Amino acid sequence: MLSLLRLTLAVSAVVAPVFAEIHNVVVGNANGQTIYTPEAISANPGDQVVFQFQQKNHTATQSSFANPCGALDGGFDSGFMPVPANQTDNFPTYTITVNDTKPIWVFCNQAANTPNSHCGAGMVFAVNCGQDGQPNSFTNFKNAALAIGASLKAQATATTPVTTAAYGGVTIPAAPEASVVTVTVTVEASHWTTTYSSYPGSPNPTPVSLTGTTHKVVVGGANGELTYDPPFVQAQPRDQITFEFHEKNHTATLSSFDAPCRANPLGLDSGFMPVAANSTTFPTWTVTVNDTNPLWFYCRQHKPDGSAHCGAGMVFAVNPVQTSARNFTAFQNLAIALNGTNATGAATSGGSTTSQAPTSGASSSAASNVALGMGSLFALVALLL
Ligand SMILES: *[C@@H]1O[C@H](CO)[C@@H](O)[C@H](O)[C@H]1NC(C)=O
Ligand SMILES: *[C@@H]1O[C@H](CO)[C@@H](O)[C@H](O)[C@H]1NC(C)=O
Ligand SMILES: *[C@@H]1O[C@H](CO)[C@@H](O)[C@H](O)[C@H]1NC(C)=O
Ligand SMILES: *[C@@H]1O[C@H](CO)[C@@H](O)[C@H](O)[C@H]1NC(C)=O
Ligand SMILES: *[C@@H]1O[C@H](CO)[C@@H](O)[C@H](O)[C@H]1NC(C)=O
Ligand SMILES: *[C@@H]1O[C@H](CO)[C@@H](O)[C@H](O)[C@H]1NC(C)=O
Ligand SMILES: *[C@@H]1O[C@H](CO)[C@@H](O)[C@H](O)[C@H]1NC(C)=O
Ligand SMILES: *[C@@H]1O[C@H](CO)[C@@H](O)[C@H](O)[C@H]1NC(C)=O
Ligand SMILES: *[C@@H]1O[C@H](CO)[C@@H](O)[C@H](O)[C@H]1NC(C)=O
Repeated sequence: MLSLLRLTLAVSAVVAPVFAEIHNVVVGNANGQTIYTPEAISANPGDQVVFQFQQKNHTATQSSFANPCGALDGGFDSGFMPVPANQTDNFPTYTITVNDTKPIWVFCNQAANTPNSHCGAGMVFAVNCGQDGQPNSFTNFKNAALAIGASLKAQATATTPVTTAAYGGVTIPAAPEASVVTVTVTVEASHWTTTYSSYPGSPNPTPVSLTGTTHKVVVGGANGELTYDPPFVQAQPRDQITFEFHEKNHTATLSSFDAPCRANPLGLDSGFMPVAANSTTFPTWTVTVNDTNPLWFYCRQHKPDGSAHCGAGMVFAVNPVQTSARNFTAFQNLAIALNGTNATGAATSGGSTTSQAPTSGASSSAASNVALGMGSLFALVALLL
């Protein structure tokens, strides 16, 4: 008898769902509040959480403690559940099953990454989080979400700081505020510490592999194209940019955002690469990307009338932050504004009667007011093991 009872207990322990509970969570409400009610629950493996979506248009999307307002890779997501203000019943639901005792972090993905982000307003939910006082408490999770909301609001109201180009008196967006971050990077079986400048939109400092990958960029072409193709690339440290020079006679020369058509004193320059019209081989020049900072390039060549290829928009960039005011188009526009045929600077420096000495772009670059990109200020220090 006793052993039978013991057997029954053992069986029930294995078949946990027999005791499974259903936890109801109301998402939003008739007052249009951005809240899950309740905000945090404890649940056992096998339990179900039923999200009932009330008024407005919310989601229950899995995130992580580290990134409260970002969808977790491979996590669950109810999708948007729009409920009109006058709907009073038959609310849609979405059910998840709790599989273990690990915390589950959830947020509402409505208006993500905007000042109106529901998550940023604190619309988060958790299963099996830590108690108050523990690092992974619900309070800490919600505060992290609120901090994201505050930062999104601050970004939206901040006026874009501006500065003046290194020459030509054109107003340009200032470089982003960067903070120097030290992280341990793991690639394949290697680990090392790297120090880099992090700013909104900065790329991942982790190389794709120990040798990186190669990005090919075609310079010029048989039809007299004044282009780099593609005009910009996103690259990780250790990647290589291989410029392949096609017809005509171009360069790839490092400059800076503030002085797009002037050689950077760091001196990275392919030199002129003349390629005959009937050529079947194309010389290359390769630059290794060492950090996450943008790299700005231009062609030093001038047309017979003295106008600069750069002023015609022949520029290239590595890691421009496309979501920022310092995007590739802004850089190209600046080159045209400063060295285009309508630029006052170009008219005075280039002259209009004779061709300009081809190397003047480089020699005039010694000007001390050439503003360096963040790259040279916070060059990445990769302490290879
Ligand atoms: C719900 O929100 C999503 C995301 O903002 C939006 O795409 C969708 O159109 C909304 N649905 C309704 C019915 O408002
Ligand atoms: C809610 O309002 C819309 C128009 O405002 C109407 O078409 C719809 O029938 C209403 N629904 C209910 C459940 O009252
Ligand atoms: C629990 O496991 C099921 C089946 O693998 C999965 O679909 C579900 O998303 C899991 N639940 C959670 C909260 O991860
Ligand atoms: C290209 O043309 C030039 C003269 O126009 C000639 O000297 C040269 O041999 C040609 N090269 C090739 C690879 O055909
Ligand atoms: C990256 O570092 C290598 C080795 O120091 C150097 O040759 C190369 O010019 C650097 N690349 C850039 C973009 O500064
Ligand atoms: C990119 O630059 C262009 C030209 O300056 C500007 O109009 C646009 O707003 C910029 N994009 C962003 C996301 O700031
Ligand atoms: C250059 O100036 C001319 C004459 O003022 C004007 O028509 C043209 O649009 C300008 N071009 C650019 C690229 O600003
Ligand atoms: C390429 O251009 C440079 C600068 O204009 C010039 O000095 C050089 O002679 C040109 N090379 C050829 C082969 O045309
Ligand atoms: C662009 O204009 C500036 C200012 O006039 C000049 O110093 C620089 O050499 C020009 N760049 C080119 C490639 O002509």
